[in-house]
Amino acid sequence: MAYRNLEISHHDGVRSITVNRPDKLNALNRDTLNELGIAFAQAAADDDVRVVVLGGAGDKAFVAGADIAEMHDYTPRQAQDFSRRGQQLMTAIERLRKPVIARIQGFALGGGMELAMACHLRIASDKARFGQPEIKLGLIPGFGGTQRLLRLAGRGAALELCLTGTPIDAQRAYALGIVTQVVAAEQLDAAVAKLAQHLADSAPLAVAGILEAILEGGETALDQGLAFETQAFALAFASEDMREGTSAFLEKRQPHFSGR
Ligand code: COA
Repeated sequence: MAYRNLEISHHDGVRSITVNRPDKLNALNRDTLNELGIAFAQAAADDDVRVVVLGGAGDKAFVAGADIAEMHDYTPRQAQDFSRRGQQLMTAIERLRKPVIARIQGFALGGGMELAMACHLRIASDKARFGQPEIKLGLIPGFGGTQRLLRLAGRGAALELCLTGTPIDAQRAYALGIVTQVVAAEQLDAAVAKLAQHLADSAPLAVAGILEAILEGGETALDQGLAFETQAFALAFASEDMREGTSAFLEKRQPHFSGR
């Protein structure tokens, strides 16, 4: 399908989805949320997709937030619908059983930070800036930011970032556990490509099992999480990839995973 606000490409199992509104710093309007929903549903359904890289066009911003111009005239009912749509998209990304890497080269603010936090892994350039500045607009985060930041970085950081609205740099975001890796700006693409290829070459059933166990486990009691882990562990033994991985180790060679 043709997208108005996204650019999509595909290479060696890696689907790249790029929000493409650079003149608006890739702000998320309703159309863009809808298109992202479709693009992620397609990535979920396509067996050739092993990993997704999500980014924003241009040098300045990953995504600078929800579209303030569009929100300005919303009624409370429209705001409720917008928040729900945004939350549904973030949850769909988080629940994708293929890893999603956020490639963050500049501003990840408001809805942009929320979008990045819905991804499984975040690689940032040392020029990236993170923040939940909604308070400065008389608003609060509405795409899951209060909840995901709380879970990712703890109550102190969530309260600080949401109550002050002050952006933080990539190093602080790394120290708080918000990003998984910080690299020099000129090394961002290489770092993202390396991680994406590693994940694309991994056994998909094992990748899905890890995503599911860790994400579900974070929301349940320990016993339930452990039971879930046992199930996913046992299921891996039904895959050819598990035989291949263990055989390759015993035969002192590199594994080649077929995805079955
Ligand atoms: N929604 C809608 N438009 C946005 C936007 C957003 N969240 N963020 C940036 N833009 C638009 C600007 O309005 C401007 O459009 P224009 O050229 O038609 O006037 C364009 O993107 C460039 O932004 P500008 O503010 O001129 O760039 P800057 O380098 O001076 O500042 C930021 C960059 C990120 C500091 C600033 O754009 C900003 O504070 N954005 C809003 C961040 C925010 O509050 N996000 C949370 C929203 S809930």
